[in-house]
Amino acid sequence: MNQIVQKKRIAEGINLFEIEAPLIAKKRKPGQFVIIRIDETGERIPLTIANADKEKGTITIIVQVVGKTTEHLGTLNSGDSILDVVGPLGQPTHIERFGTVIAVGGGVGHAVCYPIARGMKDAGNYLISIIGARTKNLIILENETNAFSDELYITTDDGSYGRKGFVTDQLKEILDSGKKVDLVLASGPAIMMKFVCLMTKEYGIKTIVSLNSIMVDGTGMCGVCRVEVGGKTKFACVDGPEFDGHEVNYDLLLKRLATYKEEEKLAYDKFMLKTKDK
Ligand SMILES: Cc1cc2nc3c(=O)[nH]c(=O)nc-3n(C[C@H](O)[C@H](O)[C@H](O)COP(=O)(O)OP(=O)(O)OC[C@H]3O[C@@H](n4cnc5c(N)ncnc54)[C@H](O)[C@@H]3O)c2cc1C
Ligand code: FES
Repeated sequence: MNQIVQKKRIAEGINLFEIEAPLIAKKRKPGQFVIIRIDETGERIPLTIANADKEKGTITIIVQVVGKTTEHLGTLNSGDSILDVVGPLGQPTHIERFGTVIAVGGGVGHAVCYPIARGMKDAGNYLISIIGARTKNLIILENETNAFSDELYITTDDGSYGRKGFVTDQLKEILDSGKKVDLVLASGPAIMMKFVCLMTKEYGIKTIVSLNSIMVDGTGMCGVCRVEVGGKTKFACVDGPEFDGHEVNYDLLLKRLATYKEEEKLAYDKFMLKTKDK
């Protein structure tokens, strides 16, 4: 059992949880994730370790409500417990001094980008952060990211905050300015990562993406997280979740992400009905 020591709503439908997990807090590195199961009948879902406090023995996860399990998690509060938290899982990010690094986070994908961007800054890189979301209420970790970024840009699709448009509009402006960029990191909806990579390929800039494929065991056993990278099948949970963004088959990823849409809707409706009845 892992106790929730803090819960905070940080944006519309997005909660931050600080959870007791001393061993994970001690071992985790940027880029890694946990798989949680709320209770005996719960499904297992992967969530990035956004932060950790070794002294307190806690990890922080940031979760957007998108379906049954994330909705259920959102009903928990400080003092409640999560049945299992397994991790740290996945390969840590390869961090070194590349030069200038642009970290692009779309929506809750910025929770995935955040620890990696911070790791890149700590390694001595010049860090440019771009945070994008559909609208102002969905922007997360702005102040926290500003605290360690050399430059920070915000974009919203509807123009309610920052620059009106997509993260790719801001990225293009920076790339066109002639600034030498050594690495781009991207995490967010698969479609966003696809378009970031199409752009950076044109400019010949190495790009790393963190893939959000569906996962079950997170240890390379079930094969659910299969992705195609450079024409080869990889398991995002053990080979990734980060890959060379120019090699990923995004169309296949998008197709696989939608595989269980019907079942996911049914599970969500059933959960909401049960909650209403209580
Ligand atoms: C390595 C990794 C790190 C992630 N980190 C975060 C994070 O920090 N914050 C965050 O909010 N989300 C994160 N996600 C996505 C998160 O796991 C899904 O949003 C969650 O599983 C949805 O579950 P649900 O039951 O609420 O929704 P559902 O209705 O079951 O699913 C909604 C959508 O979420 C995806 N999904 C569903 N089940 C899974 C699963 N078992 N594994 C992965 N994706 C699934 C599918 O695209 C699905 O269409 C991460 C995913 C991966 C692979
Ligand atoms: S989640 Fe089962 S093999 Fe990756």
